[in-house]
Amino acid sequence: MADVQADGQDRLGEWLDFWNNGGMYELHARRPHLKLEEHYDRYMHGKAKAKVFFPLCGDVIDMISLADKGHEIVGVECSELGIKSFFGRNNIGYSQESCDTVKGKLFKSKDENVNIRIYCCDLFNFNTSVEGRFDVIVDFGSMGAMLRKDLQTYADLMRSLLKPEGRHILECFVYDLEKFPDSRPLCFTVPQLKGLYGASCSVEKIDEGPNPYEDEEAKTCDTAETTTGDEQGGVGRGEPSEEESDCPDITGAAYFLIQHLQC
Ligand SMILES: C[S@@+](CC[C@H](N)C(=O)[O-])C[C@H]1O[C@@H](n2cnc3c(N)ncnc32)[C@H](O)[C@@H]1O
Repeated sequence: MADVQADGQDRLGEWLDFWNNGGMYELHARRPHLKLEEHYDRYMHGKAKAKVFFPLCGDVIDMISLADKGHEIVGVECSELGIKSFFGRNNIGYSQESCDTVKGKLFKSKDENVNIRIYCCDLFNFNTSVEGRFDVIVDFGSMGAMLRKDLQTYADLMRSLLKPEGRHILECFVYDLEKFPDSRPLCFTVPQLKGLYGASCSVEKIDEGPNPYEDEEAKTCDTAETTTGDEQGGVGRGEPSEEESDCPDITGAAYFLIQHLQC
C-alpha cells in the first residue's frame, strides 16, 4: 500500500485496493485518448511549453503524449503501485523521494526526453505551494470520481491551480441524470459546473461522443454514496455494483472547457 496519508477519513482505501488488485484498464493506459488529441489546440491555447496538471492521473499514457510534445507534466496519484506501473510499463527511469509538503512522495522521470513529476499523495494535500500554477489541467475521470461532498473543494482547488487564462479540459460520462441523480461516477452539466467554478471561470461544453471506455468495462456505476451517505465506495470507472438495476446506462461522454478568466 502506498505510503501516503489522507487527512480525515480514509478516502483512498478503495483506490489503493483497486491498484493492489491489478489497477487501471489496459487499453486506457496504452492508447492515447482521441479527444485529448482532437481538442489539443483548444486547451493548449498556443502554448509550446505548457505546464500541465493531471489530477488523479493513474497511469494514463496521455502524460507521455503531452510530455513528448515538450510540455512539463505534473500528476497526482495516491497509489505508489499505479505510479510505478506508469514509469515501468513505459520504460521511463525515475527517482523517488519523500515529500513532506504533500505528506507523501515525489516520483521524477530520469529521461532527458520527457519531464514528468508525479506526487504520490491525497490530491487534497496538493496546492499552489507545491508546484505553483498550471497552464492546463487535464481531467479525464478525476472530477467524476469525486465524492459529491468533495466537489466544491475539488473545484476550488482546480481553480486555484489554474493560471490566469489557464484551461481545464474535463471529461465525464453521460447518463440519464433525471433517473439517476445520485449515481457515480458523477456526470455534469454546464450550469452545475458554472455554479462550482464561479464567476472567475467560463464553462463551455465542447463535445459529446460515445463512451471511449466502452470496450474496457461492462458497467460503470457506484451507488454506495446513496446508500451510505458519505463513504468512498466503488472506484469510479470500476466494478459493477451489487444493485445493478440502480446502475445507469452510460450513453456517452461529454467534454467541457473551463477557462480561468481572472488573476
Ligand atoms: C477514475 S481514476 C482516473 C485515472 C485517470 N485520470 C484516467 O483518466 O484514467 C482515479 C485515479 O485517481 C486515484 N485517486 C483517487 N482518489 C484520489 C485522491 N483523493 N488523491 C489522489 N489520487 C486519487 C486512483 O488511485 C485512480 O488511479
